[in-house]
Amino acid sequence: MIALKPNLFTTATGPHAAISDDDQQAFVALRRMVPTLEAFWDAEDVEQDEIDEIVGRLNKHWPRLFGLLLELYGNQWDFFYHLEQTLMTLVRGWRLRDESLRRDDRNRINNPDWYQSELLVGGALYVDLFSENLGKLKDQIPYFQNLGLTYLHLMPLFAVRPGNNDGGYAISNYRSVDPRVGTIEDLRSLADALREAGILLVLDFVFNHTADDHYWAQQAQSGNREYQNFYFLFPDRTIPDQYERTLREIFPTVRRGSFTWHDSMQRWVWTTFNSFQWDLNYRNPDVFNAMLSEMLFIANTGVDLLRLDAVAFIWKQMGTMCENLPEAHKIIQAFNACARIAAPGLVFKSEAIVHPDEVIKYVSPEECQTSYNPTMMALLWESLATRDTKLLRRSLTRRHKLPAHTTWVNYLRCHDDIGWTFDDDDAAALGISAYHHRQFLNAFYTGQFEGSFARGVPFQHNIETGDMRISGTLASLAGLEQAIELERDDLKELAIRRILLLNASMLSIGGIPLIYLGEEWGAMNDYDFVKDPAKAGDTRWVHRPKMQWKFLDELGDDGSIRARIFRSLQKLITIRKNTPAFAGLEMELIETQSPHLLSYVRSNASNRVIVVSNFSEYPQTIDSNRLRTAGMGRFFEDLYTGETITTKSDVHLEPYQFLWLHRV
Ligand code: GLC
Ligand code: GLC
Repeated sequence: MIALKPNLFTTATGPHAAISDDDQQAFVALRRMVPTLEAFWDAEDVEQDEIDEIVGRLNKHWPRLFGLLLELYGNQWDFFYHLEQTLMTLVRGWRLRDESLRRDDRNRINNPDWYQSELLVGGALYVDLFSENLGKLKDQIPYFQNLGLTYLHLMPLFAVRPGNNDGGYAISNYRSVDPRVGTIEDLRSLADALREAGILLVLDFVFNHTADDHYWAQQAQSGNREYQNFYFLFPDRTIPDQYERTLREIFPTVRRGSFTWHDSMQRWVWTTFNSFQWDLNYRNPDVFNAMLSEMLFIANTGVDLLRLDAVAFIWKQMGTMCENLPEAHKIIQAFNACARIAAPGLVFKSEAIVHPDEVIKYVSPEECQTSYNPTMMALLWESLATRDTKLLRRSLTRRHKLPAHTTWVNYLRCHDDIGWTFDDDDAAALGISAYHHRQFLNAFYTGQFEGSFARGVPFQHNIETGDMRISGTLASLAGLEQAIELERDDLKELAIRRILLLNASMLSIGGIPLIYLGEEWGAMNDYDFVKDPAKAGDTRWVHRPKMQWKFLDELGDDGSIRARIFRSLQKLITIRKNTPAFAGLEMELIETQSPHLLSYVRSNASNRVIVVSNFSEYPQTIDSNRLRTAGMGRFFEDLYTGETITTKSDVHLEPYQFLWLHRV
């Protein structure tokens, strides 16, 4: 039997122990589980240096994990049992981790800011729609490299329920891949190939709900009490009615309210999203441990970054909106502490599409190190519609900065809708009525507003509240669809410029840019989704078209719009990756005196780039003296066009032009 080091977890009692009572308790609890750990080392023949490594991490992160679990589950009569389950789930998960992943773990522990790099540029895709299956996706690695991607998010690819599966978000088994796209082995082999190619793998952790045909849900349906406690089930409307007084409806066109009647069980089930997506009950520590085990399984397939789906909804409390509750943060922090112990190379990305004040609360090194930036996404579109950047500027001034060792994931389009989640007070401070402004934006992006260039489609229009979100591809929302239909070259030109302007903003503002694949060559809305009954009721499918590889034959053709968008984006990506000023998040706005311009300095150590963007279809001017003081120079090179700009006279921008200025 391999001996544990004598000082294992005994810091608390050592002569120089200057640790808090809380940590003392944590270590006492841990020491009581040492026999179980030792039995495990023994049974698994774990080497002493491996033990040292995991013990070192437990010493470091256990107190935090213990504290969180104590707060969440300390009142359970069998708390200690669950605690031991958590510990053993961690060491088992760690034990199954491949040596190559453990190597990355060690490197990343020593380089905690690895995800702040300017080299990170992401792409997201549905495997079936992009390349049919995982095997063929591997063959597309050169395509990703050619575009410049170093981060690939595969939309959910696990086994799903038959019929409508909410784009993969109704998972029936986290440990097997949807057989239509491949196997777990294919996934592992793709992960290896991506690692080889220097591309990070990103997968989802869909932990708010399972599909109604997941094993746990099936057990619940067959009357198993243990698994019924995994979900929120109610015999009649009494409790659901009480909850619904304060709940927001997420998918009002699917079903009113947040509960679904299950006939054979004779129970109401909590279903925040679709009726077949059953919310998990994290008040039950079994649920935490069961999902922890699934999380480590997913991580061990070779995932670098885990997208935490629908984080806002994971804790419910009667009398509240049941969104963004403090316990939701604690659950995620507990998962984070678990990752630090069992898979420390793993980084979380928060998907909280909520009020900006709430989005930011998920972001910290101890919770989610990265987060979607839905506010900036929405406000870029807002600026494009209004040709006025003031709301975006106000938001960037107050809301761009994040805690150290964290960063944004910036995007223009993703597989979901666009919701106008800006802050009402930010709008009011600028004399904008938030309600009317959202009405305007919805009218604009559905193409109803006179003069609109956009061709979006409503998503989840709530007749009662008037609330609506927008579906549509980047190109269709930016005017390309309309321009092509009207056969107007001038409009096509403007649409292409809008597409590039938004991309240039996303690539330069600070954070990891994330492209929804298809957008790199200007994919347009695909209205054929209505032919598929499993998709017809969800307009988000309009912007999830099947990849059209034949279009890429045009990439060599100078006259083609697709080629122009692709090559321009490719060029922007190359420049970003060669410009150290684009690393990290340091960003300062520059006053320009034109409401149509957005200008900022990006800096990182001694590197600086000034970005100026024109959000209108009319030429604009910027006072060159401002560039001189912001950039500390008189001569600049526009990294995009290669042109030299001097501060001898004012600088002019063409319609929708952007400048990336570097001092020469
Ligand atoms: C997330 C996904 C969305 C899905 C929902 C339910 O918000 O992005 O596509 O519908 O969660 O899983
Ligand atoms: C809501 C949710 C978000 C989800 C989206 C899907 O906005 O807050 O999590 O992605 O719906 O449409």
